[in-house]
Amino acid sequence: MTSWPSWLPLRANLRELSPYGAPQVPASAVMNTNENPYPPSAQLADAISERIKEASLTLNRYPDRDAFMLRTKLSDFINDLSGTNLTRENIWAANGSNEIIQSLFLAFGSGKAIGFIPSYSMHPLIAKVTQVQWIAGTRESDFSLDTESAIAQIKQSQAVLVFLTTPNNPTGASIALAEIEKIAQHCTGLLVIDEAYAEFSDEKSAVTLIEKYPHIVVIRTMSKAFAFAGARLGYLVAHPSVIESMFLVRLPYHLSALTQVAAEVALDFRDELLGTVAQLRKDRESMRVDLERLGLIVLPSSSNFLLFTGFKQPSAQLWQQMLDRGVLIRDVGLLGYLRVTIGNEAENRKFIETLSACLGEE
Ligand SMILES: Cc1ncc(COP(=O)(O)O)c(C=O)c1O
Repeated sequence: MTSWPSWLPLRANLRELSPYGAPQVPASAVMNTNENPYPPSAQLADAISERIKEASLTLNRYPDRDAFMLRTKLSDFINDLSGTNLTRENIWAANGSNEIIQSLFLAFGSGKAIGFIPSYSMHPLIAKVTQVQWIAGTRESDFSLDTESAIAQIKQSQAVLVFLTTPNNPTGASIALAEIEKIAQHCTGLLVIDEAYAEFSDEKSAVTLIEKYPHIVVIRTMSKAFAFAGARLGYLVAHPSVIESMFLVRLPYHLSALTQVAAEVALDFRDELLGTVAQLRKDRESMRVDLERLGLIVLPSSSNFLLFTGFKQPSAQLWQQMLDRGVLIRDVGLLGYLRVTIGNEAENRKFIETLSACLGEE
């Protein structure tokens, strides 16, 4: 923990915090932050460069504050994927879904928030930073979410913000749409469905429930399946009143003109970018088999990562042994578990070979 100088008027609730961040260290196989391992094609890079060049000629001006074009394209994209009839009035775009999460806390953190741990660690962290009381809801011992238990915990907490992550990070499994609907029926606050990994799952998206349940809001991102993490583009799909509330808390011109055009081009190249999803899903299943062959236990996953357990050494030790051999995976802070993101063919091979060697060493 940092020892802050006494003259610094840092808010008391921030003093004990450490900055969030997975280690960004050199490794030959980077499999720790659930990115898509496949870079954009030369054609896509050229198309982005062209639009960026065009946009650069007017960089003396502020960007479109309301990102009309991008939000329209995002609504078309969601409608194509999910058969919905959404418009840009249902979409909010920001610098990654983390900014969306922060905006939700800023706008709606009028009471407590609840999530079911283990889940995405930024939900409680942003709650803390925005001074919203976080309730750490619990899961079953196999990390699945029991609907009745979730409903009871939500009711008891009286939370105004309820977070469900599906597929869940770091555990990997999805929540069935029918279960989300049941939870929605008993949830009086805003039900936030974080679908960062939705494209990897067979489950129908909760965007299909918004019309019937306007208190359901869905967070999506271009950072994972869409292979666009470096551009920073997340979006919210919700009832227009929720989107209008985002206008109250956003910083003016928060989404740069360069980000907007890059994301627009990426959406035009959606077939290419999402083209790797099938491969990643296939490789996820091969990796599961390989891990099980090593005697490990692998949790069910409908995302682009696997959480595994059953090794003898402490997680931190095995994580370090892997890194010493150039394989960067994730210690998610769960005793006895480690998480690996599905990489490209060479990374996956190196991961399994290295893990096999490390398990032998203890
Ligand atoms: C569940 C979940 N939500 C949101 C995010 C944030 O993604 P981004 O800010 O890149 O859109 C992540 C990133 O790992 C995540 O796992």
